[in-house]
Amino acid sequence: MMKKHCYLALCLLLIVMQSYAQSGKADKALLIKTAAALQLAAKQYKLMRQHVPDSTLPRSTNAKDGSLMVANSTWWTSGFYPGTNWFLYEYTKDPAFKEEALKRMALIKKEQYNTHTHDLGFMMYCSFGNAWRITKDTAWKNILLTSAKSLSTRFNPTTGCIRSWDHGVWKFPVIIDNMMNLELLNWASRESGDPQYAQIARTHANTTMKHHFREDYSSFHVVDYDPGTGAVYERKTHQGAADSSAWARGQAWGLYGYTMMYRDTKDIAYLEQACHIADFILNHPHMPADGVPYWDFDAPGIPNAPRDVSAAAVTASALLELSRYTDKATAGRYWRAAEKTLHSLCSSAYLAKEGENNNFILLHSVGSLPHTSEVDVPLTYADYYFVEALLRYRQWASR
Ligand code: GLY
Repeated sequence: MMKKHCYLALCLLLIVMQSYAQSGKADKALLIKTAAALQLAAKQYKLMRQHVPDSTLPRSTNAKDGSLMVANSTWWTSGFYPGTNWFLYEYTKDPAFKEEALKRMALIKKEQYNTHTHDLGFMMYCSFGNAWRITKDTAWKNILLTSAKSLSTRFNPTTGCIRSWDHGVWKFPVIIDNMMNLELLNWASRESGDPQYAQIARTHANTTMKHHFREDYSSFHVVDYDPGTGAVYERKTHQGAADSSAWARGQAWGLYGYTMMYRDTKDIAYLEQACHIADFILNHPHMPADGVPYWDFDAPGIPNAPRDVSAAAVTASALLELSRYTDKATAGRYWRAAEKTLHSLCSSAYLAKEGENNNFILLHSVGSLPHTSEVDVPLTYADYYFVEALLRYRQWASR
């Protein structure tokens, strides 16, 4: 009898634990860690603003001498530092973060007219988009609408895609990262009432779904199209280990991009695509136990290959959102995977010590290993998506 009671109690406990995990509720220890990480982030970014020259934006650390690496407004990462300051303003309510965001946004405002890169979504939506979301100041709205117009000039109806780069020997290169820039276009249609931007975004997402993905839902980095016919010319890598490999940040951009496309369109095909990508990432035999991927899932030298914390941060933030759109069991799986990664990123293995790491928040990212550029260093976008994930976790865990 006693045994039967114990068995029933154990079953009940397991059911409660399972529904707790599936409900997306918070892990108390992680709530404490995320609060501490946000406090550290605020301290680091207060220090950072004193060290970044006025006319520049922080980018990374120079791996050779450890010095701060900065960028000008044209570099694709220029919007992340103002964006992180907006997140920290939102969290702390300290107006100094808002002032710093505004000061650096003044540097990148002119990029609204830039028609030479697909990265306008990253540059303008992560900075001015957050400014608009938080303040609803129409000045930001107008800048964003001009940015969307500039970005949409890069769309070619024959390829059904926005051209990513103007450099190199490519005919019409499109990189998986480009999925991230579509958020600006969806926003522009919602705010202006002009459907053409969202239509471009959908067409680009559909074309990418068709040509960028392999059978296992890993993605190629670059697809080069023939702009005259729209046919695929080549599938290559630029920042990955090989043309056939799964570059970790590319998988993260795809995951985040299709999750965002589902949020904005409610088209189930995007949700399914995002879930397939998530499953590829989470079930990959080379995914380390701490949820922080190697820079490429097929990197040579695993398990001694460098990790890419930026891919982990983007993936965690996307998984938190994706878990809100799926059935309970799947949601629990994605939520817990994001929790595991956040536990790791909030630990001393990946989190900087106060006043160190050129005042970036996270250590150990990889920009482009094949170019020996930004290897095992902090990156401004790792910080941005980490802070976004911390805020998302704290907001959604309590609902
Ligand atoms: N969008 C460029 C990169 O992820 O490195």
